[in-house]
Order: sequence, then C-alpha cells, then structure tokens
Amino acid sequence: MKKIVIFLLFVFTILFAFAQSNVNYNENKIPQFVVPNPLKTFNGKKVRNVKTWEKKRRPELLEFFSKNIYGEVPGKLKISSVEIVEESHDALNGKATRKQVQISFQKDNLTLDFTILIYLPKNIEKAPLFVGYNFYGNHTITEDVNVIISDAWARDNESFGIINNQLTEQSRGVRDNRWAIDKIIDAGYGLATIYYCEVDPDKNDFTDGIHPFFYEEYRKLPFPNEWGSIAAWSWGLSRCMDYFEQDANIDESKIIVFGHSRLGKTSLWAGATDERFAAVISNNSGCGGAALSKRAVGETVSRINSSFPHWFCTNFKEYNRNEKALPVDQHELIALIAPRPVYIASAEDDKWADPRGEFLSAFYATPVYKLYGKEGIPNDKMPAVNQPIQNRIAYHIRTGKHDVTDFDWEQYIKWANAQLK
Ligand code: GCU
Repeated sequence: MKKIVIFLLFVFTILFAFAQSNVNYNENKIPQFVVPNPLKTFNGKKVRNVKTWEKKRRPELLEFFSKNIYGEVPGKLKISSVEIVEESHDALNGKATRKQVQISFQKDNLTLDFTILIYLPKNIEKAPLFVGYNFYGNHTITEDVNVIISDAWARDNESFGIINNQLTEQSRGVRDNRWAIDKIIDAGYGLATIYYCEVDPDKNDFTDGIHPFFYEEYRKLPFPNEWGSIAAWSWGLSRCMDYFEQDANIDESKIIVFGHSRLGKTSLWAGATDERFAAVISNNSGCGGAALSKRAVGETVSRINSSFPHWFCTNFKEYNRNEKALPVDQHELIALIAPRPVYIASAEDDKWADPRGEFLSAFYATPVYKLYGKEGIPNDKMPAVNQPIQNRIAYHIRTGKHDVTDFDWEQYIKWANAQLK
C-alpha cells in the first residue's frame, strides 16, 4: 500500500512539474495577436462618440461577455426579506457602527440567505462605502468577537481550522491583514463584506447556492450561455446594492465595489453589469479578470476553465487554446465600466495573474474613457513598482505577492477621495 502511495505521489509530482513547465512567462513567446478595437463595432463601424458607444457598441460588447464569458443571469429574483440581525453603535473602539444584515430569498420550497457585515463611521450621516466579498467568512476579516460565523459550505483549510467544510471560531481575524478597516473608517468610508460561498459555494455544483432558484425542476445545469459562479457572485453584489439603496446611513451614490483575485474578476463583472456601482477596484484579478486573455501569459483560458469549470459559462470553453478566436478581450470589460472610475492593481510576484496583461488592459480601455473626456492610462509603459497612476482609470503594481495589503488600501482610499469627491 505504502509503495502505491509513493508511486502515485511520484506520478503526480511529475505531472504537476510538466504542467507548470508549460506555463508561459516569456514576453518573447507570446502568440501574435491583434488587440480588438473597443471603438469598432463587430461589423466594422467606427465609434466616434458617446452616443454610438452607449447605444450600439457597449450593448453589443456587454451581450458578448454575457453570453460567451460570464454567462447570462437566467431570470429575476427579488429579495424576500431583510433583517438586521445585529447592530451596535460601539464597534471598533467606539468609532463605528456595526450592522449584520441578513438578506433572504424564497422561492417555492427553496430558501437562501446571506449576511452583509457592515461597518460605518459614526461621524458621517450617509457614508460612502467599499463593498467586497471575502474568501473565508465575515469573521475572518476582523478580530471583532461579535461577527457572526457563517454556517455555509467552506473549502477545507487546516491552518484556518476549517474541516468538514465548516467555518469555526479558530479562523476569527485570520484575514484581517487584507482588510484595512481602521484606515477605511478613519478616511470616512464604510466597509461592507459578504462571505462569497453564502451566495454560491465555490465548487463545480449547480444544485447549491443561488443557482437552483432560477431553474425549472427538470433542469440541474445552466444552458451554455447561462451563468457560472462569477456571474452568480456578481448578481449577489447587485442584491447588496439593492439593500444599500434602502439604508439611510449609506450613500448609495458612492458605492465602490472591490474584489481580490477570483473576487476581483467578480468586482469587474459586477461593475460592468450594474451601473449603480460608482467605482470598481480589481486587485490581482488575472485571467478572466483584468488580464488580456490573448497574451496567454501565466494562467490561460483553458487552464482556468479546467481548474475551475464552474466559474464561467460553458460557451467560454470554446476559446480554450483558441484565444485568437475571441472577438473581444478583457480591456473591453474594463471599458464597459466607463466613464466610472476603475482601479486595476497587480503585484510584482504574482506572475500567474500576468501583471503586464493587467496593465495593458487598463491602457487599451483608455480610448473609451477618452470619448467621455476622462483620463485613463497615458501610454503603454508600465509604471515602476509602488508608483501608482491614479486617473479615472488607475493602475499600480506593488512589490510582493498575490495578496491585498495596506499599501493597496492606502492607494484605493486616496484615489476614491479624488474621484468621488
Ligand atoms: C487561482 C486561480 C486564479 C484566481 C486565484 C484566486 O490561482 O488560478 O484565477 O484568481 O486562484 O482567486 O485566489
């Protein structure tokens, strides 16, 4: 038995090493490709003004991304009830109000709820707010003992004390380094976060989370043009927005949607599909997020679709090892956010996410912002590390690994102050 295990480990190590060796990080080995022109319609017409962009080009791009990349939401579903399950005016050493708001959905015999954890600065009547998902539960973003632990499915993680897919007390505060709550509150912003697996557990299963609410009984899977998990998570952010519009203490005209990594892919899609978000931040989002797919550097379309088959719609698989057939690229996803402020951030050591590809997307989205008279990224030369470009399109590459750091938050706050005044 022991020998078999050792043999299998050996085989897996070889296979893993082989797979890694196929990952391209070399600029000289990037396939030749043409960056699709965001200001030219699919049938070749030039877009010269905002009107044509908004009436013709933006809708056709949005439709393409919906049907072929993230997947369409198959219907509508309203919030059934909202309940403030916990509230305190004495949070974070007295400087913030904390609310935990349960958003529930009911349909036939199905129910689902998710809880938004909200901190608001006490000295502001109607606060602007950053909203974003977290990876391991609301209680991981802070040491605050009052934050409720979710009972939704969680990926096992021994070091966080997550076994049998259940979150536990052991992981309280383990991700507080990623959420600069004090800086955010001190700067006069609120922070709202939701555990993403409460909306849709991050696994290749369409029978759980919000998905089944949208299918007739005979159907267990979305159609090839219908949503994967990223679109489901984005949908959840829009439902949070529905709630923010009702909360008298929140300035719903200044909601900044934020996300890291897979959740940074999600924040971009949420910003593209829901124009109520005033600004968008996408941190280290990589393939299927800010990075250009056609460069095929680091993670590629085929890799992401095989490692995470549930993130995108089935139609996206058509482009596995076939990026050149894509009539769009991710800079056009950023362009869908125009003219609203958008911030793309990379990390120097996060090669898997292709920092240069993330930067170039921001650059190639710029002509659309220019149509609106807004400044994007001035040229295709990447800024030095830790030297942000903060225009209506903002970009930085910081030192360090795939992560969210205080440096990142300091930049986001400074930029939000300037953009949302
Ligand atoms: C994996 C995946 C990325 C993703 C990341 C994350 O590395 O390949 O696409 O961004 O997980 O979400 O942490």
